[in-house]
Amino acid sequence: MKIERPRGTRDFLPEEMERRREIERKMRKIAESFGYREVMTPTFEHLELFTRKSGEGIVEEMYVFKDKSGRDLALRPELTAPVMRMFVNECSVMPRPLRFYYFANCFRYERPQKGRYREFWQFGVELIGSKSYLADAEVIILADKILKEVGVKFSLEIGHVGIMRHLLKPVGEERASKIMRLIDKEDREGLERYLEEIRVEDDLRDKIFSLVELKGDESVIDEAKEIVDYDFSYLEKLSSLLRDVDVDFTLNLGIARGLDYYTGVVFECYAEGLGAQKQVCGGGSYELSSLFGGPVTPSTGFAIGFDRVCEVCRVGEKKRDVVAVISFKGLESHAFRIASKLRDAGITAVVDVMERSLKKQMSFANEIGAKYAVIIAPEEVKEGNVAIKNLETQEQVVVAEGDMLKLLKFGE
Ligand code: HAM
Repeated sequence: MKIERPRGTRDFLPEEMERRREIERKMRKIAESFGYREVMTPTFEHLELFTRKSGEGIVEEMYVFKDKSGRDLALRPELTAPVMRMFVNECSVMPRPLRFYYFANCFRYERPQKGRYREFWQFGVELIGSKSYLADAEVIILADKILKEVGVKFSLEIGHVGIMRHLLKPVGEERASKIMRLIDKEDREGLERYLEEIRVEDDLRDKIFSLVELKGDESVIDEAKEIVDYDFSYLEKLSSLLRDVDVDFTLNLGIARGLDYYTGVVFECYAEGLGAQKQVCGGGSYELSSLFGGPVTPSTGFAIGFDRVCEVCRVGEKKRDVVAVISFKGLESHAFRIASKLRDAGITAVVDVMERSLKKQMSFANEIGAKYAVIIAPEEVKEGNVAIKNLETQEQVVVAEGDMLKLLKFGE
């Protein structure tokens, strides 16, 4: 009987894996060009790390288990809390700000559908130790740059949870968090019901609904000022800087985010062509360090849903940088020698190990998407030549073996 893989997980075949690796490489390169350095944390953590502040939504979706000593553990649903735990435990003396990035798998027990998995990958960054709007500006510019470079068509929306949290002060933190979650889920009916249940006054209720609807250019800040008495200068400075550096965005004061730890600016990116699971990136500023026993350390960051990006972006759809060395019967040792010469020059070369006919070797070369076939035939071998066929253009040339490397061009 066949054994199926667990629901919500995937297998990745070589073609897909190569595409994913290429996208990953691009993302790493850009993050590194901003001065971010890679970190890694464990795949599982003490459950408590995530129950302290991540919020009910995440906790309900976690893979939780006991180890043989009875400890409560959880597979990580995200990496912000683990990175901040690591920061508190290991990085207290490092110069601020710290710029970390990560690429890792996460686990959430969600209902699987297109773009939503139980094991998925995040490419994220955390910029730790600055409370300035410039830190938020930097991570937004970085997220915008990464998504653009890998070819995602998306819109960027920026909000600020501090405004809504300020408005919700009278209801207390726990209820405020519940309200934020309902806003995040866009569950307007549920929100209406909950506000009634906790007997929120009509005036506050109206203000909550008005604030949630505010979306557009910077003029929404003026409208928000009519609703809530709050210092909007942070959001104003951030908006103005982002306009100056040509980052395209919409302000959306209804963004609440699904995680509880955000304190200030929050942002989300939505891609075309993904349906309901269109959010390809989410982030914002938060404070978790003090919760894990460290000093108060304002931080900001984001995580890109790597799988969703891979589904919509166009990177990596080209011939493989591979040479298929194909040979007539009896010339196998020549094929092995030529392949070895190619590999020594840094080129990926595959030889026939099935003793197939030349024709079959050629169709296999095409099937695997090789860019070139180097053909070893009796006449050519006699003269010290090889034939090179470009499998993209179908052009074929015969050259001296010594000139072979000059004719193979990759990375174009
Ligand atoms: P998040 O919005 O929960 O934020 O997740 C970030 C991204 O991960 C989402 O925008 C989405 O693209 C992707 N994602 C989430 N769940 C799934 C799933 N089940 N299947 C596929 N993709 C998924 C965070 O995790 C925060 N830690 C981000 C952050 C970093 N905030 C500050 N620093």
